[in-house]
Amino acid sequence: MVNVHFIQPDSTRQSVEGSEGMTLMETAREAGIPGILAECGGGAICSTCHVHIAPEWIEKVGTAPEMEQMLLELAPGKDESSRLSCQIVLTPELDGLTVTVPEEQSDY
Ligand code: FES
Repeated sequence: MVNVHFIQPDSTRQSVEGSEGMTLMETAREAGIPGILAECGGGAICSTCHVHIAPEWIEKVGTAPEMEQMLLELAPGKDESSRLSCQIVLTPELDGLTVTVPEEQSDY
């Protein structure tokens, strides 16, 4: 199992266990994490699964490829820590991953 921590805009923290091979978005949806809308179901076309990666995890998670960067331009609050959670596949190396759910996302 891969432990993942989601921090909401009000600083509440939810820790969930995901499975290796699942995406971060799937893990969030399965656990009922608010704010991860994922309207396209992981098709990488909606950007409503946007999260901010905690600074200490950015190197391990990696930066967004060009196509993902283009989609992230549509995401309110996008910054250099932004990733689409549907494009992050959980691996043992990501155990303990911490991400923040953007406040703006719930306004879609
Ligand atoms: Fe639509 Fe990630 S779920 S882009």
